Amino acid sequence: MGFDEMDVDTIWKNGEFLDWEDATTHVLTHALHYGTGVFEGLRSYETEQGPAIFRLEEHLDRLFDSAKMYDMEIDHSREEITEAIVELLDRQDLTSCYIRPIAYYGYDSLGVSPGDCPTDLVLAAWPWGTYLGEEALEEGVDVMVSSWRKHASSQVPTNVKTTGLYVNSMLAGEEARRNGYVEAIVLNKEGNVAEGPGENVFMVNDGEVYTTGQAQSILEGITRDTVITLAEERGYTVHDEAVISRGQLYTADELFFTGSAAEVTPIRSVDDTEIGSGTRGPVTEELQEAFFEVIERRTDDHDEWFTYL
Ligand SMILES: Cc1ncc(COP(=O)(O)O)c(C=O)c1O
Repeated sequence: MGFDEMDVDTIWKNGEFLDWEDATTHVLTHALHYGTGVFEGLRSYETEQGPAIFRLEEHLDRLFDSAKMYDMEIDHSREEITEAIVELLDRQDLTSCYIRPIAYYGYDSLGVSPGDCPTDLVLAAWPWGTYLGEEALEEGVDVMVSSWRKHASSQVPTNVKTTGLYVNSMLAGEEARRNGYVEAIVLNKEGNVAEGPGENVFMVNDGEVYTTGQAQSILEGITRDTVITLAEERGYTVHDEAVISRGQLYTADELFFTGSAAEVTPIRSVDDTEIGSGTRGPVTEELQEAFFEVIERRTDDHDEWFTYL
């Protein structure tokens, strides 16, 4: 669904609330030409204890880390950004939605060096359902191993979230969809599993949980951290720096994706090879249920992860 079909009308930019159509940027903006933006994607949920933003603190930590990597000065404090997000949601009556903060080198000059380009900060929010489809949460998704490799962290930093890096995600995801799959799994330069275009990958084998770590050129997701925590609390051994070969994907007992957009989505096949029984596996189901129990606030556990509106 396009933005024009959504009931949203306000964007926050550089300290001001603007009408949606006025939230524009010049065509000679540095970030448009060189991918020099850093961003976050997080969700607010309508929970049993009221609407609440999930893990805002950790997303702000990552936003500031990403900015640091590109020498960007964000002129607004965490407190200002938090207040602005809460007001942005309030002004648009949004409770369950996706939130997109983005900081980028703006308009001044177009050398590759950002020179005196200002850092613009924008906050937007809109309703966004399950990223890979409602049915996917139960049935799982069909994925392919992309022919595109993930850039190595020695080429561009992969531990931060910068706009330019998403051309790799776009190419991998579109290749998968052109071939009839829902999503891709991207291998790293060495040919081992890195992650999805916008998700981390988990594997379950013999009752133990595996996921790749930063050494495999991944973005360490906040949902990944959430699921690791929930799995360990339930007594699972979690290998969070795992090296997963391509072959291990096909023989895994269970596979699933995690991400702020994808939440916890089972993977039922890779390159047309059924994973496990070809549907959501029992460990995936347990961890998915634990995840939804927390984010819907059906438990008092992990209240520290929530910023109530
Ligand atoms: C490349 C990539 N990996 C992993 C993730 C999952 O991260 P998170 O759980 O923090 O949303 C994302 C989504 O932001 C991503 O874009």
